[in-house]
Amino acid sequence: MDKKVNVLLLGSGGREHALAWKIAQSPFLEKLYIAPGNPGTAIHGTNVAINPLDFDAVKRFCLESHVNLLVVGPEEPLVKGIHDSFITDSSVQHIPVIGPHRTGAMLEGSKDFAKEFMFRHRIPTARYKTFTAETLNQAKDFLKTLNPPYVLKADGLAAGKGVVIVSDYNEACENLTEFFAGKFGEASQKVVIEEYLSGIELSVFVLTDGQSYIILPEAKDYKRIGDGDTGPNTGGMGAVSPVPFADSHFMSKVEERIVKPTINGLKADGIPYKGFIFIGLMNVNGNPYVIEYNVRMGDPETEVVMLRIKSDLLGALQACAQNRLSEVSLEVDSRTATTVIVVSGGYPGSYEKGKAVTIPDSLIDDAILFHAGTTLSNGKLVTSGGRVFACSAWGNGIDEALEKSYSLARSIKFDKMYFRSDIGSDLKRFQKR
Ligand code: AMP
Ligand code: GLY
Repeated sequence: MDKKVNVLLLGSGGREHALAWKIAQSPFLEKLYIAPGNPGTAIHGTNVAINPLDFDAVKRFCLESHVNLLVVGPEEPLVKGIHDSFITDSSVQHIPVIGPHRTGAMLEGSKDFAKEFMFRHRIPTARYKTFTAETLNQAKDFLKTLNPPYVLKADGLAAGKGVVIVSDYNEACENLTEFFAGKFGEASQKVVIEEYLSGIELSVFVLTDGQSYIILPEAKDYKRIGDGDTGPNTGGMGAVSPVPFADSHFMSKVEERIVKPTINGLKADGIPYKGFIFIGLMNVNGNPYVIEYNVRMGDPETEVVMLRIKSDLLGALQACAQNRLSEVSLEVDSRTATTVIVVSGGYPGSYEKGKAVTIPDSLIDDAILFHAGTTLSNGKLVTSGGRVFACSAWGNGIDEALEKSYSLARSIKFDKMYFRSDIGSDLKRFQKR
């Protein structure tokens, strides 16, 4: 790379703190800005008070601050077309954007679009049909052809809450009616009903420039609020990488059956794509099936994936921007990385914000505290969200990494804090001793 780059990273969660931490280590970085960021990202760069959905303000900032690379953390600006907004505006079209155009972002923005894409390109996924209020009766008939549990998905973005899995047929029908009545507004006017896949999940991450791709370290996320995978779904309560059952044999199936057809499918459909693809997979008896695509990195997966990438991430992002990704190979840390998410009591339901937080002055070796839902109030650190911190650590194996993640989690103090105590325990049986 010839010159140093000024980067603007959009977002404000634990994912963005982890990305900022990693990007800040690059020898190619001149200045890192994060909009809006959080008190954790401010350690690695300069936070700027801009809403990532205010595209005009983002563009103005990019021009004023000579930004050479825009990295989009969350999906919403992508689904709303921030990339399109840049390439169609002559004043900023020279600034590369990491993150797909609106059409590519539909892989996450519309479950129906994603399912059609997968079927068109013969990518393994659950059998499905899509319905609207007009076809409610056909939807009920289709449910009868499936074995319970029934999986219903709002077509559009529903802040991670748009999937319902129920065992009872009548309950499934009631949920359908609620969806069509506008439970998630526009997002649930269309509903995908699909076959239930029984297996163990994992998250696979790909960075592509539209031609070449690199596969980043995989991770396992823990979505439910309670120990033993009980209670409601959350954004994610912890993560582990590597995933012991994702051995080279399984990962080569993922690459051949899913990653390659996905990249080739985007090309064949004429969908330009530069950015991350997060493939949510189910391992069904050793065979990978796609549960969902996301067009961004995962959160909290990023808080372990970044720990395992030894190579320069900014170099890879620049290569992606310049269609040189084929020249990049990633060096990966063989140690295990884990993260435990500390949340506000009540999350994912309602919870209080503004709780005073105490964090340790110095951290134990091989541990990193990523901020997710924190803010400064009169100079003091307080909670500002459901997921408050990601306690990440490296170790030789899951046990050692978890010991450090948990020791870090226990060293944090705020009223009504909570974290799961069983992150990674389901994976221990797969570990080679
Ligand atoms: P999503 O919002 O698409 O990530 O779905 C939320 C969760 O629902 C996933 O993480 C899976 O645990 C589960 N899920 C989604 N689709 C299926 C399926 N077809 N079979 C089994 N579980 C599913
Ligand atoms: N950890 C799941 C997600 O980021 O959607």
